[in-house]
Amino acid sequence: MTASVRIRRARPADVSAVLDLLGQLGYTPEQEWVRTWVSTVSPDDRCWVAETGSAVVGLAHVHRVPFLTESAYRARLTALVVDEAERSRGVGALLLEAAEQAAREMGATELELSTSHRRHGAHRFYERHGYTQSARHYRKTVAP
Ligand SMILES: CC(C)(COP(=O)(O)OP(=O)(O)OC[C@H]1O[C@@H](n2cnc3c(N)ncnc32)[C@H](O)[C@@H]1OP(=O)(O)O)[C@@H](O)C(=O)NCCC(=O)NCCS
Repeated sequence: MTASVRIRRARPADVSAVLDLLGQLGYTPEQEWVRTWVSTVSPDDRCWVAETGSAVVGLAHVHRVPFLTESAYRARLTALVVDEAERSRGVGALLLEAAEQAAREMGATELELSTSHRRHGAHRFYERHGYTQSARHYRKTVAP
């Protein structure tokens, strides 16, 4: 099935499909916010979509972060989601491969991500692709 899937850079016309996919992930960001990051030309960001025919069925966004401690960049996978109807057909693997390639091209040595404790399927998916748990993740609200 993955033979009919095309991975390409996201463009402004994809915003509504991207919003739908982010909804499936449990998030409802503002349309203009998503448009900004889908359209942005930045040395630190890459946004990819998976397309079957003319339908957008998956999304991955990678952001590059400099780490003072490491003399190196890490890349962060801020979102990865495949349409519910298209899961378990290899689309996620293709998107992850594109994200890793983008991270390399941006000069990052590692790709990292956070995923909720409850996403057991995603844990299996990442571990199958060689990702390991290496740190605790802390978070605090610092602005309203
Ligand atoms: C995780 C996800 C991106 C993988 O995409 P995919 O196209 O299903 O991935 P692949 O077909 O390459 O690999 C399938 C594997 O992903 C895992 N998986 C995770 N969640 C899954 C789901 N809801 N449905 C099916 N497979 C899922 C399984 O290990 C599955 O292997 P299996 O089919 O042998 O059980 C996709 O399932 C998804 O969007 N899940 C919901 C959102 C999510 O959890 N995103 C990650 C947030 S950090």
